[in-house]
Amino acid sequence: MSTATTSPGFHLVGRLLDPASRADPYPTYARFRDLGPVWIEEMSALVVPGYRDCETLLRDPRLSAERHHYFDAARERDPFPPDAPASVRQPWFLSMDPPDHTRLRRLVSGAFTARTVARMEPYVTRLVDDLLDRACERDTFDVVSGLAYSLPVTVICHLLGVPEEDERLFRDWSAQLTRQLDGFSFPGDEDLWAGGVVELHRYVNELVAERRRSPRRDDLISELLAARDGGDVLSHDELVSTIVLLLVAGHETTVNLIANAVLALLRHPAHLAALRADPGTAAAVVEEILRYDPPVQLTARIAREDLTVGAAQAPAGALVILLLAAAHRDPAANPDPDRFDPRRDQVRHLGFSAGPHFCLGAPLARLEGRVALAAFARRVREPRLVADPPPYREHINLRGVGELLVEHGAR
Ligand code: HEM
Repeated sequence: MSTATTSPGFHLVGRLLDPASRADPYPTYARFRDLGPVWIEEMSALVVPGYRDCETLLRDPRLSAERHHYFDAARERDPFPPDAPASVRQPWFLSMDPPDHTRLRRLVSGAFTARTVARMEPYVTRLVDDLLDRACERDTFDVVSGLAYSLPVTVICHLLGVPEEDERLFRDWSAQLTRQLDGFSFPGDEDLWAGGVVELHRYVNELVAERRRSPRRDDLISELLAARDGGDVLSHDELVSTIVLLLVAGHETTVNLIANAVLALLRHPAHLAALRADPGTAAAVVEEILRYDPPVQLTARIAREDLTVGAAQAPAGALVILLLAAAHRDPAANPDPDRFDPRRDQVRHLGFSAGPHFCLGAPLARLEGRVALAAFARRVREPRLVADPPPYREHINLRGVGELLVEHGAR
């Protein structure tokens, strides 16, 4: 991409999309902060890199979360086959505005409150211990496949009531499906992605039919079905789409939380030693990684009306890209922001967003991250990174490594 013919903002977007900057996009984010809020004509998008602006805009009702229209319009053809279940076209409540967003979010929020999630701690601890038992049998193991990948998918399947033997299906689909969370990378695998979406929707449609035939008392799908049948507040497609959202939104993000944190700890052995000495500090490590190297790097909204942010303007209908990972390293929000330091007095981050779409699964993600990191520090002795930097996945908004090989000494 030539700098002579493109605007500075578009040039920086090109850099972010370049696989060569995947290992360290933070210098590019710093350049975005130098530019301030910037209108990028080539994308009809406003890019916002500062903390205060991002936080304010996430709560601003002049912005809509219905961004799927923007990405659907960019498609040349309908990616789904004619016999795909109708639910594939039902937007997630992540991409809805009130009142539908409020109605759908309320139906599932009870399952994710801090109190409900706290009851899951013994179960999560058992899972982590089992995974580490197996991983540590080998002198070298992959933190992604051995720990980070399995934990969130097992937990969310358990919560929803997906039979254990079907969990492996989600591993296969996950890579294709996270594409739905990443409208920016356009890796050119539309058919693969659409195929994964259709298969998952068929599976969830069947699962719902099965639960309707034989309801259980202890899973979220049965609860949602009861809510639907009781008050007719949830259409069938909304029900399926909400289940798919829960399966997808909580998976790759939590994998990346754990793997990004292990990577930062291995690069900062003093903080790993501090965690080993005091497992109670794991919660602080989780908050700092959500700031320092967040699993969700950016999110987007659509301007409902003409907007002015700083010196930049965007017309109604424009895409507004909020660079959360750049905002976290805004020195006005966090002093000495490029330093990984779980002992900060105050950590300001938007790693779970802010406003009406604040991550519903935050208590669960925090619990899984805290338990996994404390156990890793306690159980894995003298860990060493095999490759630094490790290979990164291709996503631009979901940041995480594909593999994180660790050599270790005695258990
Ligand atoms: C929304 C991050 C784990 C379920 C979000 C958003 C972010 C986020 C940034 C808002 C996006 C926006 O404003 O556009 C994360 C991170 C996680 C994580 C970093 C792990 C570290 C989970 C888990 C679940 C979950 C474990 C549930 C199983 C959701 C749902 C929404 C959401 C349902 C939509 C909320 C709404 O639109 O009202 N998450 N998430 N997330 N997350 Fe998470």
